[in-house]
Amino acid sequence: MYQIIDGKKISQEIKDEMREKAAALKEQGTERCLAVIQVGADPASSVYVRNKKKACEYVGIRSLSYELPEETREEELLGIIGELNGREDVNGILVQLPLPAHINEDRVLLSIAPEKDVDGFHPVSVGNLSIGRPGFLSCTPAGVIQLLKRSGISIEGKECVVLGRSNIVGKPMAMLLLRENGTVTVCHSRTKNLKEVTKRADILVVAVGRPKMVDESYVKDGAVVVDVGIHRNEENKLCGDVDFDSVAPKTSYITPVPGGVGPMTIAMLMANCVEGLSD
Ligand code: GUN
Repeated sequence: MYQIIDGKKISQEIKDEMREKAAALKEQGTERCLAVIQVGADPASSVYVRNKKKACEYVGIRSLSYELPEETREEELLGIIGELNGREDVNGILVQLPLPAHINEDRVLLSIAPEKDVDGFHPVSVGNLSIGRPGFLSCTPAGVIQLLKRSGISIEGKECVVLGRSNIVGKPMAMLLLRENGTVTVCHSRTKNLKEVTKRADILVVAVGRPKMVDESYVKDGAVVVDVGIHRNEENKLCGDVDFDSVAPKTSYITPVPGGVGPMTIAMLMANCVEGLSD
């Protein structure tokens, strides 16, 4: 019988821990403050941003909200980020992605001071992670590690397979599993004999961005399966990259969608804001 990894519960635990830490910091006279910038009104981004602000309120982090029109020029955005970089009362800066096509995402992410990069997207943050220096961790992969650890699943020495190689999830995920002493393989759309590779996994993290792509034929008996995907299907229901009904009976632990990895991203953002640079 498999166990469901409850991301809602674990993310709540983390937010509660951060709420206590933020309160203790406040008593010492330090208030955390996150600046959230959204350009345009993409509906999905608006939901994420609203949830981030709500989480800040719950944890006790001050949030500054910049809702900029779609036609905002890149220079204007860079100007705002520059100003926030220099403000001592702001310790986190988050630019919601995606940005409108006329704005260069790379230049924008590079302009955020690495010591305020609570999303962990700056090349300095990514570089620090890859060579084991303290720095901000990308929230979703950091959340996956917390899901595993807090469910009592050890990573050390395990065959860990990451399906997907994006900069935001796949690559940092591989680095974090490596840091936890996993034996890590990254596979992707060009991988030959993909199922042979994924079937080696004791821990399989799926972040390919294709609804229900992974069925039971990709999974070894007793594996731990973590599903980072989130999609809406034809019936407007949420589903992941993993075909849960087919895969779950084969696993020892599995994350559901919704209620698995999703809520962890914001919880880890809160942790980055409250704890600052971590190692
Ligand atoms: N867009 C989708 N997910 C994220 C995220 O985690 N951070 C930011 N900044 N934008 C996103």
